[in-house]
Amino acid sequence: MRPWFPNRSEGPAVAKTLRCRTGSPEETRLLGRALGASLRPGGFVGLEGKLGSGKTVLVQGVAEGMGFDGYVTSPTFVIVNEYDARVPILHVDLYRIADTRELEDIGYREIYFTEGVALVEWADRAPEFLPPDRIEVVIGIAGREERDIEFTAFGEEGEAALERLREARGDGRC
Ligand SMILES: Nc1ncnc2c1ncn2[C@@H]1O[C@H](COP(=O)(O)OP(=O)(O)O)[C@@H](O)[C@H]1O
Ligand SMILES: [Mg+2]
Repeated sequence: MRPWFPNRSEGPAVAKTLRCRTGSPEETRLLGRALGASLRPGGFVGLEGKLGSGKTVLVQGVAEGMGFDGYVTSPTFVIVNEYDARVPILHVDLYRIADTRELEDIGYREIYFTEGVALVEWADRAPEFLPPDRIEVVIGIAGREERDIEFTAFGEEGEAALERLREARGDGRC
């Protein structure tokens, strides 16, 4: 499969960034809730970070923030979970994708063009298949319970969502 859009060309120079430090899984979940409340139909969030960094914990919060009160777990083996929230959520895990040619098999086109919201763990496995409007989240492990969480907005919709997140967190701080 070939990329639909080149997307790295705009580069982070024009992108907006928000950096947060959380001190517990609960704090990460709350941050996720604020992000969930900031997303709109068609929103796409790519998550990067090592195993155990907290991608799924953040997604649990996002799902809550979008009105889903069910169980959220890493779709590592099934690759895609669907949650019935304010708008449908597609929770994707690309950990097992060895080659972007496999994206066609998992129905990635539907994920990419979803009218719901797509939350994609290990988005860095398919860097040339990220939509131009999106938020990228990079989580770094800074201590046993400390996590550095960086949000970068791409495109007008991504920037608008990040702006809502910033407002929800108050004062431009995180
Ligand atoms: N500040 C934090 N934020 C998120 N998770 C944390 C934090 N501190 C410790 N943890 C732990 O790190 C692990 C994160 O797991 P998970 O979200 O499944 O990671 P991933 O999806 O990135 O592989 C959980 O066991 C969680 O309890
Ligand atoms: Mg996970």
